[in-house]
Amino acid sequence: MNKERIIGILNEAIEREIGAIFQYMGQHYRFPKDKHPIIREIMERIAVQEMKHAEKFSKRVIELGGRESTNTGKVIWAEDFVRMLEADVAVEDEAIEMYQRHIKICEEEGDEKTKALYEEILKDEIEHKKIFNLLKGVLEVEGK
Ligand SMILES: [Fe+2]
Ligand SMILES: [Fe+2]
Repeated sequence: MNKERIIGILNEAIEREIGAIFQYMGQHYRFPKDKHPIIREIMERIAVQEMKHAEKFSKRVIELGGRESTNTGKVIWAEDFVRMLEADVAVEDEAIEMYQRHIKICEEEGDEKTKALYEEILKDEIEHKKIFNLLKGVLEVEGK
């Protein structure tokens, strides 16, 4: 197993997670308490889940003898609530595509442990994408 290669992909994933944390946390406190209390709450909960993902990936980097990245991946800012949710779907799409690609690399390297971690986290990202699409639909019906 090429440990450096695995550490490299894990750090790419960590940066994706850190970007998602800032994006969702920033949206959490932008959604007004009076008008969108449920979306506000959901954004915070998903941001915390992304933090747990970053933590799990980071622990694996340490286990492999590497150093975890603390760089922030891309954050997409949008003023409009519907656009915010579109940006969130785009982030989840990027994570899904990235983690599927990383799973293949884990297979090539024979790293079952890291592969299992990616598979577990990938399920959450697929769920997040569904939630964001659903919320976007709610906002569109409500007229924002
Ligand atoms: Fe995540
Ligand atoms: Fe996610």
